[in-house]
Amino acid sequence: MSTPPRHLAVLVLTACLALTLSACSSDDGDDGGSTTRATTIAGLKGDQTAGKTTYDNTCAACHKVDGTGDIGPNLVTCAKAALTVTAVATVVVDGQGTMPSYSTLTDQDIANTISYVKGQLAGK
Ligand code: HEC
Repeated sequence: MSTPPRHLAVLVLTACLALTLSACSSDDGDDGGSTTRATTIAGLKGDQTAGKTTYDNTCAACHKVDGTGDIGPNLVTCAKAALTVTAVATVVVDGQGTMPSYSTLTDQDIANTISYVKGQLAGK
């Protein structure tokens, strides 16, 4: 029933990391129960043309049509440099910070959107 001190250290470390990297983090360590869904999404083949429609309708309000960021961070640099498909899927499904969850999108819609973000906006 005792909590090993190691867990506390990990918590503190995670908090520090989150603070340091909040602008463009690759922190996908927060497996809020959607890891399986994110993995499923990562296994789908995304359609970039369909993804653009979903992106423009759903994401562009905060991340801008060209992905360079406004209310939300710049996805061109983040999606390219830091984030795996699974990590982006986790953000979309769970939300992150002030970004709401978009779990009502279908797995295929999310896969399409990520394919567009990583393939077109971030230029592969
Ligand atoms: C209401 C505004 C809003 C909308 C709409 C929105 N986002 Fe976000 N997004 C944010 C904010 C704000 C953050 C930063 C969250 C944080 O870490 O505090 C963020 C973070 C992200 C991140 C993580 C970036 C990083 O480096 O941590 C990704 C990826 C992302 N959004 C993708 C999307 C996608 C894809 C969509 C459309 C399905 C979307 N967002 C829709 C506001 C939004």
